[in-house]
Amino acid sequence: NAPVITIDGPSGAGKGAIAYRLAQHFGWPLLDSGAIYRVLGLAAERAGLSPAEVEPLVELATHLPLTFVADDASGEVVANLDGQPVGDLIRTDEAGARASQYASIPEVRAALLQRQRDFQVAPGLVADGRDMGTIVFPRAEVKIFLTASAETRANRRFKQLKEKGISASLCALLESIKARDERDRTRSVAPLVPAEGAFVVDSSTLSIDEVFSQVVEYTKK
Ligand code: CDP
Repeated sequence: NAPVITIDGPSGAGKGAIAYRLAQHFGWPLLDSGAIYRVLGLAAERAGLSPAEVEPLVELATHLPLTFVADDASGEVVANLDGQPVGDLIRTDEAGARASQYASIPEVRAALLQRQRDFQVAPGLVADGRDMGTIVFPRAEVKIFLTASAETRANRRFKQLKEKGISASLCALLESIKARDERDRTRSVAPLVPAEGAFVVDSSTLSIDEVFSQVVEYTKK
């Protein structure tokens, strides 16, 4: 089996940036599993399905017309739903919160399991999410758990939004991060916990460069 590096952790810990840089570093593709849940949330919303409608949701998840396509202009991989790029539609905080609701349904997660495992092909894979090291790739060679205090994560999100010219309340962001943490940690399926043997990094007082070099050092061991 091709080698896998898993990076799990809560929202805003900087997983995305580190996963992207690791993928570049090793020349491996990147699985953004959160994007799968976000696209599912979008598709469910379009289909008018509430989180209570488990059977149709499983049907939707099983046949989700989702593809990841390299964008010619930027070279970045973008998610397509029904052949159309979803763009920033899945990147809003609402989309994240919605994804988290559908992601707490065990049957939905089960329906998306194989689709995620199919990304494990030569030469290797960097997998970013919540349960990459615990459930999807339990035999991964390297497992990273990246965390940061809720305050740090709210501040980062606040700055990101400000840069995009979006006004937000720091207080409200902190509340929503805490609520999402709570839901991700206490859900009955795939609760957010470090995988056994994971290298745990707290990025609260570290820059992305510092986190990246710690993680790369660790992968050499
Ligand atoms: O960027 P952020 O960490 O906020 O979100 P994301 O990684 O795109 O994931 C969005 C939501 O999907 C999370 O809050 C989780 O509830 C869910 N998710 C999950 O349950 N399992 C994964 N492997 C990835 C995401």
